[in-house]
Amino acid sequence: MTTIDPIDLRKAFGRFMTGVTVVTARAEDGAPVGFTANSFSSVSLDPPMLLVCPGRFLSSHGVFETCRHFAVSVLAEGQEDVSNTFAGFKGDRFARVAYRDDCHGVPVIRGAVAQFSCRTAQVILAGDHSILIGEVARMSDNGGRGLGYAEGRYFSRGLEQVAVTGPGTVRIAGAIVECDGDVILEQTPDGLRPPQVEVPGRVGLREALVAKLAGRGLTVCPDRVYSIFDDGRTGADYAYFLAGGALDHGAGAFRRFRADQLVVQTYTSAAIATMMARYARETRHRRFGLYLGDERSGEVHDFQHQGS
Ligand SMILES: Cc1cc2nc3c(=O)[nH]c(=O)nc-3n(C[C@H](O)[C@H](O)[C@H](O)COP(=O)(O)O)c2cc1C
Repeated sequence: MTTIDPIDLRKAFGRFMTGVTVVTARAEDGAPVGFTANSFSSVSLDPPMLLVCPGRFLSSHGVFETCRHFAVSVLAEGQEDVSNTFAGFKGDRFARVAYRDDCHGVPVIRGAVAQFSCRTAQVILAGDHSILIGEVARMSDNGGRGLGYAEGRYFSRGLEQVAVTGPGTVRIAGAIVECDGDVILEQTPDGLRPPQVEVPGRVGLREALVAKLAGRGLTVCPDRVYSIFDDGRTGADYAYFLAGGALDHGAGAFRRFRADQLVVQTYTSAAIATMMARYARETRHRRFGLYLGDERSGEVHDFQHQGS
């Protein structure tokens, strides 16, 4: 009998392209639990059934093994942060994402392309995972592109080109979002940054920014460009807009700051810190320049001379 190396096996399994879901339930005391899963599969149309495989190593496995109801949210392109939160974050995962309770009181992720609310039909122990089979009681198909996953990295139909070519072609669009006099920033493990998204090659920056941030609970209305620079270290091109916006209740990774608090924060990079310091300065007189350069050096152009 040949023994199969688990690392090789994992790699070979990873060749199978999947979508990404977040599977959720409530513990007996009502606490929400959830994990990222790509083991989702449709099972039956009549009756409507699906399955997903929670690992027996999950801290929430006991809940999924015994829950009467669970839900599956199929993540949208741009929800990589949600996936990472439910795959790795050890604190309150639900404080970081926008969600609502479904017909069973189980949280489902806002902005997902589809949501399935299930009654548990069967749980089968299978090696180091369980197979959780659910009968779909309610579903919503919200349209849009789903997030993909293969060979240990995310992809999507729109971002395919970026995933294949790697650094050098990545375009990031972001916004300094003003909301009732505050500025909305995103908390990441590496510090704060303006809300931002990756934008595929042929898609417009503003369009992608609006659509993807809406999927994460932040409505933005981009106005003028504020800063454009490329980062030699990451190979990415960045474009930041000034924007008005509104935050959905519960869009957890986003936080509000007053303009006078901006300079003392810790940001994800020196380039972002410099940009935010300039914004804090310029917002006093509401006279904003346009920065063009790279992550270290460039020029601020006065908008009056830009004709914009
Ligand atoms: C794309 C992706 C797919 C995953 N799919 C599964 C899965 O199908 N089953 C599973 O048990 N864990 C899966 N995981 C890992 C779990 O999400 C992760 O181990 C879990 O969130 C840990 O939760 P815990 O800290 O509560 O134990 C996946 C992770 C990623 C990034």
